Amino acid sequence: MREELHRLREDAFNSLKEARSAEDVLAVRKKYLGRKGPIASLIKELGKYPPDERREAGAEINRVKREIEDEIEALLDELRLREREERLKKEKIDVTLPGRSIPFGRLHPVTRVLEEVEGIFTSMGFDIAEGPEIETDYYNFEALNIPKNHPARDMQDTFYVSSDVVLRTHTSPVQIRVMETQSPPLRVIAPGAVYRRDSDLTHTPMFHQVEGFMVDERVTFGDLKGVLSAFLQRLFGEGTPLRFRPSFFPFTEPSAEVDIRCVMCKGTGCRVCKETGWLEILGCGMIHPEVFRSVGYDCEKYTGFAFGLGIERIAMLKYGIDDIRLFFENDIRFLRQF
Ligand code: FA5
Repeated sequence: MREELHRLREDAFNSLKEARSAEDVLAVRKKYLGRKGPIASLIKELGKYPPDERREAGAEINRVKREIEDEIEALLDELRLREREERLKKEKIDVTLPGRSIPFGRLHPVTRVLEEVEGIFTSMGFDIAEGPEIETDYYNFEALNIPKNHPARDMQDTFYVSSDVVLRTHTSPVQIRVMETQSPPLRVIAPGAVYRRDSDLTHTPMFHQVEGFMVDERVTFGDLKGVLSAFLQRLFGEGTPLRFRPSFFPFTEPSAEVDIRCVMCKGTGCRVCKETGWLEILGCGMIHPEVFRSVGYDCEKYTGFAFGLGIERIAMLKYGIDDIRLFFENDIRFLRQF
């Protein structure tokens, strides 16, 4: 038995010397130390020996078994370490490779102009208010002194949701909503999307306006001119020439439209200003007493001015864009330029 044990030990150690991978070593373990392996058979045969010899032989088998096991463990450790080192070598990171850049998003030009306009007015002490884009006929027209069948309704081609509900055609209904819930003094701007059945180079069915209004005792047309002049100088640059032209809106009296000198040709005449040298930029006026009446303000005590401007129109002038539809096509080549 002893000889056989010795031979088994020798064979196992030789096989382990040839093992190249952890898998090879595990195969050797299974072959020699497995439940059906030669060492297990030797242990089974111990029963045939007389008791004293049995004990001695058992101890001998266990010693050899442990020697083989120790050798296997040592080899496995070594092989695992080597495999790990090789893997790490293969996975080595080249820190000199150029990185993959993460593309940055940009603010949409309409958002940029909206934020700039909001920034100028809030710095002058105006609050910001919002109103619903789906509006009742009352707020969009009636309370603004545009009764049913009034010809002024034709000025704004309206999207009707039902006979009494519309997509708001301007931000002016926010004037009514604010004045219904707050009393003067008021200094408010109301930015937001508005809708009209309109579509060409300078008109889209959805666009953005900023409404502004100020109500207090003794607010005059001079205040209107002062606030709008200061605003437009900041938006288009100090010294930009302006002119106030008489106009008509049912909710203001007197009413005016403000032009700035054409930012493209500096007044000499071009395609953008249709050879006039001027560009219309906003509508404004002193709030009509009928509007004050509809919100319950005392029109003997209070006066106010209001104005409304188109954000896309301003963005087109600031960035030299000649087709308003570009703003809403989401073409990344266009948007990347801002
Ligand atoms: C109004 O909407 C008035 N509510 C403005 C106002 C407010 C006057 C308060 C007085 C007091 P108007 O229809 O002119 O006015 O429109 C204002 C601006 O919106 C225009 O100057 C123009 O820049 C812009 N605009 C009008 N229609 C379109 C459109 N379809 N697409 C893009 N911009 C438009």
